[in-house]
Amino acid sequence: MKWLIVEDYEKLSREAARLVAVQVAAKPASVLGLATGSTPLGMYKELTRLNREEGLDFSQITTFNLDEYVGLAADHSQSYRTYMRDHFFQHVNLSAEKTHIPSGDASDLDEECSRYEEAIAAAGGIDIQILGIGGNGHIGFNEPGSPVDSRTRVVQLAARTIEDNARFFASVEEVPTKAVSMGIQTILNARRIVLLASGASKAEAIQLMLEGEKTPEVPASLLQQHPDVTVIMDRQAASRLS
Ligand code: F6R
Repeated sequence: MKWLIVEDYEKLSREAARLVAVQVAAKPASVLGLATGSTPLGMYKELTRLNREEGLDFSQITTFNLDEYVGLAADHSQSYRTYMRDHFFQHVNLSAEKTHIPSGDASDLDEECSRYEEAIAAAGGIDIQILGIGGNGHIGFNEPGSPVDSRTRVVQLAARTIEDNARFFASVEEVPTKAVSMGIQTILNARRIVLLASGASKAEAIQLMLEGEKTPEVPASLLQQHPDVTVIMDRQAASRLS
């Protein structure tokens, strides 16, 4: 894994956007794997600027998001579909039918998971997958203990994830307890992976991921077996590295 430690969140966001922009420029019909959460917000802002001011063209791009909460309709204020629309999709020239997010309110969730895997394969696989990291080392919503060969499936969120995400909901009781998430194997199949980490709350997970052993107990550590991973982190997230 390659690591890049940058001064602050702004630099992290610019560097992440630059890597995506290089990919899009090299292959205008690239398939992007996207994440939600606080960490990639600055990257989406910078990609929006690059689209508006420098003509970065998303017209042929296809996107697949990592995950979606189970039980929330696509238009719920906290659904990841709403997040992606508000923070990225509506600001750039992506075509709506090329943006993919699992449906958390599908009547048959298992079928939805298989359909999602098939859609990724039919698009030719993911060229560059953007990831955040949970304080417990999760990637996507692959919580500690997730099997390395897992594919898109319904997962139970860990208690810590529910607590961490309660900040977006009126109360912790309103946070969904399940999600549809790409699996570890789905993520490992991406040709290139870029993981972003900002802030001291990620320092322990980053240390375990980069310096610990490869174990499903720290899902991000399973990325050690991928040939092309770049970790971009700010000083605080890197503060426990030896
Ligand atoms: C989001 C996702 C999660 C987040 C992680 C970090 O689609 O899959 O793995 O990347 O929980 O979230 P933030 O960035 O909010 O700290």
